[in-house]
Amino acid sequence: MNWPLHGSNPKYLYESLDVLKPGHVLDFSVNLNPFGPPPAIKEHWGSWLDHIVDYPDPKGERLVELIAAKERLSNDAVLLGNGGAELFTLLGQLLAKQKIIIVQPTFTEYEKICRANGCIVSFFQLSEESGWTQDTDLLLEQIKEADALFLCHPNNPTGTAYPQSVLLEILAACQEHDCFFIVDEAFEDFLEERRTLAFCVKEYSRLIVVRSLTKMYAIAGLRLGFLLASPEVVARLRSFQPYWAVNSLALLAGECCLQEEGYARKTRRWVAKERLRIHEALRSMGYILSASQVNFYLLKDPLLADQLPLLTFLLAKGIVPRHTMNYPGLDGRWLRFGVRQAKENDVLLEALGKWKQH
Ligand SMILES: Cc1ncc(COP(=O)(O)O)c(C=O)c1O
Repeated sequence: MNWPLHGSNPKYLYESLDVLKPGHVLDFSVNLNPFGPPPAIKEHWGSWLDHIVDYPDPKGERLVELIAAKERLSNDAVLLGNGGAELFTLLGQLLAKQKIIIVQPTFTEYEKICRANGCIVSFFQLSEESGWTQDTDLLLEQIKEADALFLCHPNNPTGTAYPQSVLLEILAACQEHDCFFIVDEAFEDFLEERRTLAFCVKEYSRLIVVRSLTKMYAIAGLRLGFLLASPEVVARLRSFQPYWAVNSLALLAGECCLQEEGYARKTRRWVAKERLRIHEALRSMGYILSASQVNFYLLKDPLLADQLPLLTFLLAKGIVPRHTMNYPGLDGRWLRFGVRQAKENDVLLEALGKWKQH
């Protein structure tokens, strides 16, 4: 089977399973802000047209300044990217041929870029039994032999997060053993209790924090992310990057989004409440869920070893989950769903209720 590598673009999932795609689908395989981009983006969009004629600012200076001020870092500790995805590609080049640990199941791009750059990859496998947040003693041992550690936090696809104290313990071990600690915080701004490590970047030269603006601000089609690290690391990564990596519209949208903290705060609160509502309903139907703290979650029907029949049932109804066939340790035994707007989540609840009765 030729499974799509990521969520979104549902037509590829329909094609690989040979299920007829209904005219209207609800895509739960994406994990973006369910309310879309902040209204300010729409308001300014027309006036941004003039900017597509010229080349973008190669340094993205205004946006970099905004980020640096927000994170209390110097401008040279910030690197913009064409989405977090591009920044991972640059990191792969930085880490070429080195020894890498990836905490998994997780976002599959880390492994892909490491393999493409000849890295020696090993894994710290999170277990379902521990709720994907097990003790990290063994990981701390592994760090001693590694050049870099990738941790997605909060983790995609489980939605789970470690307490801040655990993150700081891992960070200290990485610094001590000269191992880069690459923390992907693409979904950190969906955590009600924030847990970014950005404030440690100044003190810890081995820390690299990667952020995405495409999730909270629903601008995935525009592509925008940034990375926080020591000025030396930023300079090395920049040397691998195309000169105009981030386009003018993404730069303008980024400036606009970062001034919409209220929008992010409201979304964060709403998603947390809505996730609780959905989870209560699903648990009462007999489904098992990951203890997600963000805007997506894993679900399984415990009566099925492999969730393929449920996946096919939902696709036929125009409801698109994210399959988990390419997450080692999940292997199709779970499905991932994004938290969408309430009415859309109700459609999902109804379909999952029907599945239980069929
Ligand atoms: C965990 C995680 N990190 C990073 C990314 C990349 O985000 P983007 O390139 O849209 O900024 C994704 C995209 O799905 C993701 O799930």
